[in-house]
Amino acid sequence: MALIAVLPGDGIGPEVTAEARRVLDALALGLVFEEAPVGGAAYLAAAHPLPPETLALAERADAVLFGAVGDPQFDGLERDLRPEQAILGLRKKLGLFANLRPVRLFPGLEDASALRPEIAREIDLLIVRELTGDIYFGEKGRGRTATGLREGHDLMRYDEAEVARIARVGFEAAAKRHGRLLSVDKANVLETSALWREIVNEVSRDFRDVRLTHMYVDNAAMQLVRAPGQFDVIVTGNLFGDILSDQASMCVGSIGMLPSASLDEDGKGLFEPIHGSAPDIAGQGKANPCAAILSAAMMLRHSLRMPASADLIDSAVAAAIAGGARTADLGGDLSTQAMGDAVLAQL
Ligand code: IPM
Ligand code: MG
Repeated sequence: MALIAVLPGDGIGPEVTAEARRVLDALALGLVFEEAPVGGAAYLAAAHPLPPETLALAERADAVLFGAVGDPQFDGLERDLRPEQAILGLRKKLGLFANLRPVRLFPGLEDASALRPEIAREIDLLIVRELTGDIYFGEKGRGRTATGLREGHDLMRYDEAEVARIARVGFEAAAKRHGRLLSVDKANVLETSALWREIVNEVSRDFRDVRLTHMYVDNAAMQLVRAPGQFDVIVTGNLFGDILSDQASMCVGSIGMLPSASLDEDGKGLFEPIHGSAPDIAGQGKANPCAAILSAAMMLRHSLRMPASADLIDSAVAAAIAGGARTADLGGDLSTQAMGDAVLAQL
């Protein structure tokens, strides 16, 4: 029996994770769930955002179902104790280097998109974001300049092995989709990106059937709102992927609809909605649970080899949306639980 570590975390994390649990329970897949605190909730309970027990559970489990971390009440803490360190620590310690963020428009949500419906309707892309390197994990610090000014720095770096393994994930995903891979970088300015582009080109020799193109990140941000239908799979580094995936979410209506999978080299993973903890609406039953529910589907597909059950969940969410179910972020008035009910009713 598969063991699932459930880490609800902060803000709306617990509310949306509860709905994902209800959907998984309804499918009666024989999963065993064990819950542990993470993020600000763990700091309050155990004085650390990623307590050793929580990390041990995540390591022992077959997959991790994650909610969200972060709360302004912890902004004053030193960086190592902030809630965000929990998710960064989990990604690093579990070796979750490959972050898959599928972005597509659910029919019915055309009007929720920030784009014109005829442009939004075309969107069906996958962002493959490198997740354990880049400026996120490089040397960082504060200091003083020679003239005494306060200074801060963060090192952006990748080595060729890190680039090659995420490039492979991108090529493999493209081969299974429409055969087009776009690598996004800033090679006109950054040395890290110049290396990135070199390595991606080298890896492309092993994937003759995939058409590889390159784009600078500023242009990619522009194209994402101008003509997002042109994209199939986008592979990019940690920082650019973070920014582009938030942008992409608005193109399909709401960040409340976007799930993600973060996988290690063996396909074990952590599954989380890409939205954060949304402290402004936490505890009010307003959050959209679809991203969490769709993340549970990704867990079934990628870590537990239950693709049929994953399809059932995806279809149920699509049917609920098509049937008019809408939380506030989508312009409706359903509560988190009522949205969960609408999905369950379609299962
Ligand atoms: C994300 C989030 C995280 C990130 C934060 C919470 C550290 O924005 O998963 O996209 O920057 O990676
Ligand atoms: Mg982000």
